[in-house]
Amino acid sequence: MSKVLIMDTILRDAHQSHAATRMRTEQMIPVLEQLDEVGYYSLEGWGGATFDSCMRFLNEDPWDRLRTLRKHLKKTPIQMLLRGQNLLGYRNYADDLVDKLVEKCFENGIGVIRVFDALNDPRNIEASMKAIKKYGGQLRATDPTRGICEAAISYTSGPVYTLEYFVNLAKTYEDMGADNICIKDMANLLLPFDAYELVTALKQALRPETKIHLHTHNTTGTGDMVNLMAIKAGVDIVDTALSPLANGTAQPATEPLVATLKGTEYDTGIELEKLIPIANHFKKVAAELEKEGSLNPKVRQVDVNTLIYQVPGGMLSNLMNQLKKAGKEDKLQEVLAEVPNVRKDCGYPPLVTPSSQIVGTQAVMNVVMGERYKMVTKETRDLFAGKYGRVPMPLDEEAAAKVLKGEKRIDYRPADDLAPEYEKLKAEVEAKGFYTQEEDVLSYASFPEVAENFFKWRKARDQGVDTDLAKTGVYPV
Ligand code: CO
Repeated sequence: MSKVLIMDTILRDAHQSHAATRMRTEQMIPVLEQLDEVGYYSLEGWGGATFDSCMRFLNEDPWDRLRTLRKHLKKTPIQMLLRGQNLLGYRNYADDLVDKLVEKCFENGIGVIRVFDALNDPRNIEASMKAIKKYGGQLRATDPTRGICEAAISYTSGPVYTLEYFVNLAKTYEDMGADNICIKDMANLLLPFDAYELVTALKQALRPETKIHLHTHNTTGTGDMVNLMAIKAGVDIVDTALSPLANGTAQPATEPLVATLKGTEYDTGIELEKLIPIANHFKKVAAELEKEGSLNPKVRQVDVNTLIYQVPGGMLSNLMNQLKKAGKEDKLQEVLAEVPNVRKDCGYPPLVTPSSQIVGTQAVMNVVMGERYKMVTKETRDLFAGKYGRVPMPLDEEAAAKVLKGEKRIDYRPADDLAPEYEKLKAEVEAKGFYTQEEDVLSYASFPEVAENFFKWRKARDQGVDTDLAKTGVYPV
């Protein structure tokens, strides 16, 4: 029996992909106990975008959300997504902060950490993996389902991305201590027969105890087929989302896969009947999100452009939003055509956060300004300068000269330049009068301005009337 395990993304990627990560904790709570009874491998519930959105838009402490999830999810491990040395944010953090964040994630309830680097540079997940092994190992000693280290390969296509490339990377991650290897296909670029080939190759190359976990989306409409072919090739875990927030830019739906595998050698062991009331709840939540304008029904459609332009779902909605704000919605096709050009110029990075944002924003600028690299973001410059890590292919020298303007490139691990920073950041949070817990330092490190605004709001709420704040009328007291 090769039972297939399922991670449901309803609490993270599903609403991140469909509704700009706006699902609130109170919209999750009513069905957490039922979700816990389903028999999932894990429930994805946390990541950089949820962390940001909690503080920025929802006036929620992301750590409180995590603790609430953990309180209700007694059996099912909570899985999170960690961006290697970028942690939950968009810059490189010093190793002491990496260690502290991973410690606090496990301490507050995370069971499985999926860690990846946007550029597939193993040096960028080294420190995270070390911390995951350290703190996860302690957790695992008492509960073998928790404290899991899942290293993810950013799946993408392009000249460098051969079967051999992916197998070598997976073996490197396994040697570094990964319990699971994830194929992270955030753009749904992985086609069904390629998935079969890739999973088969990984199964042959990796140790039998290493689980292979596939993460795809249904942006291009191939997601269910990708999952099924991967299952035929022996994948251990696949990601799906309960139907009300499934498909389109999110994951393929959970219910049809459960039904498809029922009674076969791949049976998930999940009872469809248990999913129905939970799905009914999220149907209402999806309607609420649509009513408040967070859910754009367009993202549910099959979009074959992704296969051509290699743009992940989240990135596509970001591009649409950026152009909408600039009043240039008619430029979408031009921007989509510019994305692969920018990508080639900067050495073919996989398109995942943050490189997807960097390349996307630069493509928007190149089109809106009417001249390529006339305006360059700091992030684009850093990517060209090697500050995000090693890109798989050589840079386009002409573009690099325009972008870098003589700035020096680096070829060592970017975080090697960083001095320890936790104590310094802690002192800043304390000096501002916002310190209530160690986790605040990590929130502040991840999104300084957003966190500070959230802390102000929290302080006003907790202290009742704060005269200064009350005067502005900005913060409810
Ligand atoms: Co995803």
